[in-house]
Amino acid sequence: MGNRIPEDLLEKIQRTSDIVDVVSEYVQLKKQGRNYFGLCPFHGEKSPSFSVSSDKQIFHCFGCGAGGNVFSFIMQHNGVSFTEAVQTLAEKNGIDLPTISPTDQGKTLSKDAEKMIEAHELLKKFYHHLLVNTKEGQSALDYLINRGFTRETIDKFEIGYALDSWDFITKFLSKRGFNLSLMEEAGLLVKKNNSDDFLDRFRNRIMFPISDHNGSTIAFSGRVLSEEKPKYLNSPETKIFNKSKILYNFHRARIHIRKNQQAVLYEGFADVISSTESGVEHAIATMGTSLTEDQARIIRRNVNEVVLCYDSDSAGVEATIRAAKVLQSAGCQIKVAMIQEGLDPDDYIKKYGSEKFRNDVIGATVPFMTFKMSYYRRGKNLQNEGERLQYIENVLADLTHLQSAVEREIYLKQLSKEFDLSIDVLKEQLQHFQSRQSNVSQQPQAKNAVSNHMKRNPIAKKKLLPAYHTAERMLIGHMLRSKDFSQKVLERLGLQFNIEEHKAIVTYLYGFYEEGNEENVSSFLSRLPNSELQDIVSNIAMITLNTEVTEQELSDYIKQVLNHQKMLMIKEKEADKKEAERNKQFREAAQIAMEIIQLQQALKS
Ligand code: CTP
Ligand code: MN
Repeated sequence: MGNRIPEDLLEKIQRTSDIVDVVSEYVQLKKQGRNYFGLCPFHGEKSPSFSVSSDKQIFHCFGCGAGGNVFSFIMQHNGVSFTEAVQTLAEKNGIDLPTISPTDQGKTLSKDAEKMIEAHELLKKFYHHLLVNTKEGQSALDYLINRGFTRETIDKFEIGYALDSWDFITKFLSKRGFNLSLMEEAGLLVKKNNSDDFLDRFRNRIMFPISDHNGSTIAFSGRVLSEEKPKYLNSPETKIFNKSKILYNFHRARIHIRKNQQAVLYEGFADVISSTESGVEHAIATMGTSLTEDQARIIRRNVNEVVLCYDSDSAGVEATIRAAKVLQSAGCQIKVAMIQEGLDPDDYIKKYGSEKFRNDVIGATVPFMTFKMSYYRRGKNLQNEGERLQYIENVLADLTHLQSAVEREIYLKQLSKEFDLSIDVLKEQLQHFQSRQSNVSQQPQAKNAVSNHMKRNPIAKKKLLPAYHTAERMLIGHMLRSKDFSQKVLERLGLQFNIEEHKAIVTYLYGFYEEGNEENVSSFLSRLPNSELQDIVSNIAMITLNTEVTEQELSDYIKQVLNHQKMLMIKEKEADKKEAERNKQFREAAQIAMEIIQLQQALKS
C-alpha cells in the first residue's frame, strides 16, 4: 500500500490508450481538420463544441470549458478517482498494475497526507462493513432504513457506522502500523486528558464519508442515532480537509452538473443524498458552514446557474440570501427552489416523493429577485402605509443591482400593478437609488477589476479577453510546445503572471521541464492538482496557433503582462483624480494628474 503508480507504467498506459479511441466509446466523434469534434458529454448541447486532439492527446470543450488528457476524461466521465481511471485504462489494454492504494492521486501529496488519506479510505470501508454486515451495526442500519434511505443509496454514498467504543479504531489503526499522533492530526483520534493515550473521535455514530473533489476520502461527519446533541460531529480542519474549499458530493455530481448546466446547492448532506435518490443528481452541499468565496469559485468554474434549495425556516432564508450574494459576485445566476414551511428538502422528498420534488420544487424555481421580494414581505403588513413604503424601497434598492434593464422593467411593472403606483414614479425613485449607489461604489469597482476578472469561467471567455490575459495565454501556449521558450520566459518573467491560475500552471510547468521531461501536454496534465487547472491548460493547448514566436513577439507579450499592474494603478489614480475634482480639491487633482503622466511614461518605455 502507499506505493504510487510508477511513472513509466503511467506513460505506458497513456501511450496505449489513444484518447480518440477512448472518447469514441462514449461520444460520437467526427474528424474535422486536425481535430475530432462531437457533442460534449459534460454538458447538454446541440452543436458540437467538444474537441479531441489526436496529436496532443487531449480533449477540450469550447462550450463548458472541460478539458484534460485521457485520464481526466475517464475521471470526469465516470466520476472516479485518478487511480481508478488508471486502473480502468490499464485493464482495457491488458496492462498489469501493482496493487495501489487509492491515495495515489498522481499529484504530490506529502507522505503524511498520503497516510492520512489511506487511513480514511480504510476506515470508510470498515465503517461501511460494520453498518451493513454486523450485529453491532444493526440499529444504525435500521435507523437509516426507517428514515427512508435505500440499501442502494447506503452503498453508493458508502455510509457507515462507528462502534460504541472508546478505543476500537485506535487499536485498529495501531495494529496496522499507523502513527497514532498522525491519526490524531488527521482528526480520527483525540488525545486522552493529560496523557499520551488516544481515543476514538467517532463513537456510536452513523458515518458519512467526505471526499475531496478527486474522490479521495478526507474526512467524516458522524450523526447520532437519536436526537442527542451535537447532531453531527465533523472531522476538524486538517492538512487534507479544508472545509471552506470542499463541497459535499462534488466529485460524483460534477458530470451531472455539466449535463444539466445547473447545480443544486443544499445545506445538508441528508438533503444531497435524498436529492440524488430522487433523481436530482447534480446535488452538492456545504459542510455545515456558510458558502465561501472559494466554494463559489469552484462552482462557477463548472456551471453558470445555481439553484439554492435550503431549509424553509428563517435561518435557511437568511442563509439563502447570504449564499446568493457570494455566488452572484462569483458570476453565477441564482434561482431559488422553495420548500414548504417547516420542512427541509430531505423531509419534503420523504413526505411527498421524488416526482413531486422534481416537478414542484426543482422544476418550479423562482428568480432570486422574486424570492427576495417574498422575503421582504415576511412579517410586514402591506396595508400599513409605512410598511408598504419600506417594502417598495427594499425592492427598488435591490433592483439597482440587476444587470438587465428588461428584468428591472418586469419587476417595476409588478410593483406598479400591485400597489397601483405609476411606473414613472417608480422609475424616478429607482434612478434616485441608482445615483446613490454609483457614488458609493465607484472606487471599489476599479480596485476589484482584477479579482472579478479572475473569477470568470471558461464559458464566459467567449468574450474578448484583455490584452494581458491573452498575452499570458499565448506565453503558456508556446511554453507548452517548447522547453527552450519556457526557459526564456522563466528568465525574463518568472512567476510574474497576473492571473492566479496561470501563475500556478507555470510553476508546475517549470518544475515539469526541470525534472527533465520533454514537451508533452498530455503527461503534463497529469501533474496538475485539479481539474480547474487542467481545463485551462487544455483550452490553451487547443487554441494556440502552431507558429514559431519571434523575439519581438516574446518581448511584446512580456511587456503586456508586466504593464498590467501599472495600468491598474493608472485606473485607480484616475478615479482618485475625479473624486478630488468633485470635492473641488484642485491642487490634489493636479498632483494626481502628474503621477498619472509619470506612470504612462513608464508604460511606454
Ligand atoms: N451540521 C453540523 N453540525 C451540527 C448540525 C448540522 O455540522 N451539529 C451541518 C451538517 O453538515 C448538516 C448541515 O449542517 O448536514 C445541515 O444541518 P441540519 O439541517 O440540522 O441537518 P439535516 O441535514 O436536516 O440532518 P438530519 O436530517 O439528519 O437531521
Ligand atoms: Mn433533515
